Amino acid sequence: MRNFNYKNQTEIIFGKDTESKVGTEVKKYANKVLLHYGGGSIKFTGLYDKIVNSLKNENIEIVELGGVKPNPRVSLVREGIEICRKNNIDFILAVGGGSVIDSAKAIAAGVNYNGDVWDLFIGTDINHTCLKLATVLTIPAAGSETSSGCVITNEDGLYKRSTGHPTLRPIFSILNPELTYTLPKYQTSCGIADMIAHILERYFTNEKYVDLTDRLCEATLKTIMENALRLNNNPNDYNARAEIMLSGMVAHNDWLGIGRLGDWATHDIEHELSGIYDIAHGAGLSIIFPAWMKYVYKHDLNRFAQFANRVFDIDINLNNLEETALKGIEALENFFTKIELPTRLSHANINDDHIEEMSKKLVAHYDHVGNFVEIREKEALEIFKLAL
Ligand code: NZQ
Ligand code: ZN
Repeated sequence: MRNFNYKNQTEIIFGKDTESKVGTEVKKYANKVLLHYGGGSIKFTGLYDKIVNSLKNENIEIVELGGVKPNPRVSLVREGIEICRKNNIDFILAVGGGSVIDSAKAIAAGVNYNGDVWDLFIGTDINHTCLKLATVLTIPAAGSETSSGCVITNEDGLYKRSTGHPTLRPIFSILNPELTYTLPKYQTSCGIADMIAHILERYFTNEKYVDLTDRLCEATLKTIMENALRLNNNPNDYNARAEIMLSGMVAHNDWLGIGRLGDWATHDIEHELSGIYDIAHGAGLSIIFPAWMKYVYKHDLNRFAQFANRVFDIDINLNNLEETALKGIEALENFFTKIELPTRLSHANINDDHIEEMSKKLVAHYDHVGNFVEIREKEALEIFKLAL
């Protein structure tokens, strides 16, 4: 096991009706906020009114910026930075999913940066003070509600890139599973694929002697899959929604990654896909993860057999670990199919037109991606081919 430091500043406020506390929680930090949200779901669900009323009850001044698109764009981030500077705002309240939260994080990182915010996504470190932010989460998926990461797309060249800093973890996050009842089934499933991918990125490591985190990963994966199938039957099952929301947070608050180096190639490859095709991140992952697994499984047959056995209860064939490993990959694909996600590029109507371009762009800013197995242009192309 590796040495590690673990600190997470996010206070989690979890459960029914917790969004009504947003005013009193914000008041602890600010008298004025940038209220940041997406394309309108919070208006049709009634959440917008609840948030505004709760903030007004505490006499908190509100400046609004809506319109965040899934796969959030840097142009709106630049607009948010200008609004914060002009109005002397130093606290952002993000109400929505990973896209809204990431857009808020990028604004928080950009306000005190003396240059264009995109620099922070292509190599410039964040070593200045970021604004504080908080969230009311409406979709369990990206884990951005407690993570230090932030992913933004630049319309100029369609580059989707990430940055991160410990102070970009929200100061508090409100998680009410009831707010997720209004999600379309497809978005619920995309979120489930994303949280599964966050665990698998950490699970496939070269680190030895990481038994506890292996088992925590396996338990979280089983919990997600069991409750996803319960939601298939009843989308308004509060307890299943609660398990999924908690799992999405646990999957990416990095507790499952302590003492080990995760892989993350699949995320980087998927970001090329959603950068160009604007596909939902989770749907991109349900396509790319099985393809990546098929490409790398021989690197550590024992780990892949362990995955098959402990997550999917597949018997280990000691005379043929490869067979067990492949059964595990197939079981993951079958699960994605059960929750109606694509597992091939063709299922998302994507052909091979851009696979060379995406493979090249993947390493435009780095030597390689991935730690379990290093992936460069040539390997990425093979993975895209396995995903066709
Ligand atoms: O925009 P609105 O109208 O709000 O609609 C959203 C959006 O269309 C809708 N939605 C959200 N909550 C809803 C709802 N519709 C009805 N009822 C609700 N309660 O769902 C759609 C998707 O929302 P989005 O925020 O894009 O989803 P998600 O949370 O999956 O976020 C995806 C983004 O997060 C990034 C991804 O790359 C992608 O850009 N990620 C961020 C990470 C991080 N910061 O740590 C890590 C992840 O790996 C991921 O890369
Ligand atoms: Zn993700």
